[in-house]
Amino acid sequence: MSEASTILDVASILHPFTDPATHERQGPLVLDTGQGAWVSDQDGTEYLEAASGLWCASLGFNEPRLAEAAYRQLRRLPYMHLFGSRSHWPAIELAKRILDLAPVPMSKVFFANSGSEAADTVVKMVWFYNNALGRPAKKKIVARVDGFHGSTVAAASLTGIFRNHLKFDLPIANIIHTSRPHYYRGALPGESEEAYSSRLAEELDRQILDEGPDTVAAMIAEPVMGAGGVLLPPRGYFEKIQEVTDKHDMLFIADEVICGFGRTGNMWGSQTFGIRPDVFTTAKQLSSGYAPISAVVVNERVYRVLREGSEDIGYFAHGFTYSGHPLSAAVALECLKIYEEMDIVEQVRRLAPYLQDGLRSRFADHPLVGEVRGVGLVGAVELVRDKATKAPFEPGKKVGLRCMDFALKRGLIMRALGDTLAVAPPLVVREGEIGLILERFELALNDTLRWLGR
Ligand SMILES: Cc1ncc(COP(=O)(O)O)c(C=O)c1O
Repeated sequence: MSEASTILDVASILHPFTDPATHERQGPLVLDTGQGAWVSDQDGTEYLEAASGLWCASLGFNEPRLAEAAYRQLRRLPYMHLFGSRSHWPAIELAKRILDLAPVPMSKVFFANSGSEAADTVVKMVWFYNNALGRPAKKKIVARVDGFHGSTVAAASLTGIFRNHLKFDLPIANIIHTSRPHYYRGALPGESEEAYSSRLAEELDRQILDEGPDTVAAMIAEPVMGAGGVLLPPRGYFEKIQEVTDKHDMLFIADEVICGFGRTGNMWGSQTFGIRPDVFTTAKQLSSGYAPISAVVVNERVYRVLREGSEDIGYFAHGFTYSGHPLSAAVALECLKIYEEMDIVEQVRRLAPYLQDGLRSRFADHPLVGEVRGVGLVGAVELVRDKATKAPFEPGKKVGLRCMDFALKRGLIMRALGDTLAVAPPLVVREGEIGLILERFELALNDTLRWLGR
């Protein structure tokens, strides 16, 4: 069975974000079942899944209420769209619920199916907004180096992991990137977090002035930068950045795709880090990843302009066949009910110290670890060649990937983001399982140390 699936997989699937040549040599890890924070492969080997898949499976890998919600909806009304004023209850209730939970007062919810579609929708909305306001030159969107917003054409352009642009003729026009906030790597010797934040805000201001403020429309940012290496904003960062975007009459867009629904210890990353978005996107934990769904949530100021700008066209000419799909909406709605009943935010706050203190006490002094960082139930360690000078490993050595492989052999699934190893376990993880994550993580780090011959 295992050999057959490997042969069939390699023969048939082009895997996302996978090196095809390595995949042909090594084959897939075929996962078959899930239970709480655990998954099992087709041979029955169990892994502690400390990445929640791709920051998704907040309720773990076998929440029966989500399965039942999906089945109920499939029996009742399996498909309907939202075009031309068509609607259905799961979408209506879900939109209302998202607006009730929003970090700042918001007006409307636009549904899509993925974080990427949400990001592409945002780009179109920002352009439409400024055209409707009679400011056709105000189109550039600022994103950040090492930010990640997805893989469709506009979302990948916003993404500041430049390897993702190569050979794809990206980024598209009107996307610019500003520095990432990475205090460990970016701060000057002796510079405080506040001073570093001020410097980044001044740099952004200069960049906008150089481009011409009349041409710069918006800025998009993840509260915690996920795929870029779990980078947390330094103290005062978003406050100072938003002063700049306000000054230049820009919209501020929070990409809450991985931070939304409790991950950082508040319902939204925007609340943890003082962001006041005009627009925010959400996905992933919105349905615990059980069904594809995302949302773009806009405030009244933006909605008014989209509404008035649509009048002469006849409709808001954007949407997807599966926008607000009843199955996904029903699953998301049930998911939000479960969050409320279990008080997901309180749960994360209770568990966070086990992860955060555990990571720091175990790994801060480890010879391979340059920095330990994290908040709520997301944490990471950045591996370095030289702890004193912070010198990184040569990228070709793929030390992060090796460490991730060693962890897998120890029964732990985590993610390598370059040489940063990240954990973001399901929000239903137990204390004891966090202890096990840390134990296995340490074994993997020591395996890596031995592999490096140290
Ligand atoms: C912050 C952020 N935005 C957007 C996306 C893209 O989401 P999707 O893969 O659902 O298109 C991701 C995916 O990891 C993400 O982390």
